[in-house]
Amino acid sequence: MSAPINFTFNGSTYSGEAGQSIAAALISQDQRVLRTTRFDEAPRSIFCGIGICFDCVVVVNGIANQRSCLVEITEGAVIVSKQ
Ligand code: FES
Repeated sequence: MSAPINFTFNGSTYSGEAGQSIAAALISQDQRVLRTTRFDEAPRSIFCGIGICFDCVVVVNGIANQRSCLVEITEGAVIVSKQ
């Protein structure tokens, strides 16, 4: 078993396993809301889980529009819902 990978999401620290997507790591720790919609702040989580719907986009290390269902967690990553 590999060492846990630590990262932050909206300022809170989480950990996951190597090879886990951001969405999988967060949802496995009951963090289901990944972002909110632009105009009415409606919560969004994963929908398709395979990179098609873009419901799960987050900002990873300052890079916007990263699909959290596809991007793997990395040690020290700073992930936020919005810039
Ligand atoms: S959940 Fe659909 S693109 Fe990530």
